[in-house]
Amino acid sequence: MLIIHTISELQSELKQRRQAGRSLALVPTMGNLHPGHLQLVSTAQQHAETVIVTIFVNPTQFSAHEDLDSYPRTFKDDCQKLESLNTDILFAPSIDEIYPHGGKNTSHVHVPHITEVLCGASRPGHFDGVTTIVCKLFNICQADIAVFGEKDFQQLAVIRRMVDDLNIPIRIIGEPIVREADGLAMSSRNGYLSEEERAIAPRFHQILQHTKQAILTTGTNLNSIVSRAKKDLIEAGFKPDYLHIYQRHELKPATQQNKELIIVAAAFLGSTRLIDNVYVNRT
Ligand code: PAF
Repeated sequence: MLIIHTISELQSELKQRRQAGRSLALVPTMGNLHPGHLQLVSTAQQHAETVIVTIFVNPTQFSAHEDLDSYPRTFKDDCQKLESLNTDILFAPSIDEIYPHGGKNTSHVHVPHITEVLCGASRPGHFDGVTTIVCKLFNICQADIAVFGEKDFQQLAVIRRMVDDLNIPIRIIGEPIVREADGLAMSSRNGYLSEEERAIAPRFHQILQHTKQAILTTGTNLNSIVSRAKKDLIEAGFKPDYLHIYQRHELKPATQQNKELIIVAAAFLGSTRLIDNVYVNRT
């Protein structure tokens, strides 16, 4: 695996591969890789001849009170995991390499509307940071495809919208959530949970599954189903940030007419903010 830290070195390597007719896939990450990330890499390998994984803890998507400083950085471990998958290229730039004028002074990409709800409402500015770094990585690598996890469902929708709005020539692939054996969605932030919190954490997914069953069996009053789910989360020890039943393709509240739904939720367990989602298909 080639480990590259500068944009110029990466671009000259990718130019050669492109000239040799090799297709390129990009997997952007912030490191601390778990099996969910490795699944993104495997999927990328099925779609392209060269896979570039990026590890960059992007400061512009964290607000002042968030966990930028404590975000887990496990570079050596990550390299071993990527090596074991025969990843072609790891791009791990410094902050100065990516933001030579400083993160606050950089031009940025803003996707309107769908960034203002859900995680965007609780984390103002977060998605501007995400779209800016992802757009920069797309421009730097000029890959044919990029793979993102569906756990960050809103992030995936925002990136798809950016690609569509700005005519970026790349195909976006969404990869289903990878879960622990007890159902907890894999996330780098799970490592923040205490032993006691970790024992409670699977309830999050269980409550979303019960919510799905309630929609499928009694699903006429979505508001009361949502209220029940929030109450269940509180009783289990969570502090819900949001829980909504949305139209899966529009990221808007669902109506009785919509068939393809998604239950999207974020909740705090202690100081750790977890997110998860579950698809619901009504016939
Ligand atoms: O999902 C993530 O890890 C990050 O938001 C991403 C897409 C790598 C951008 O920093």
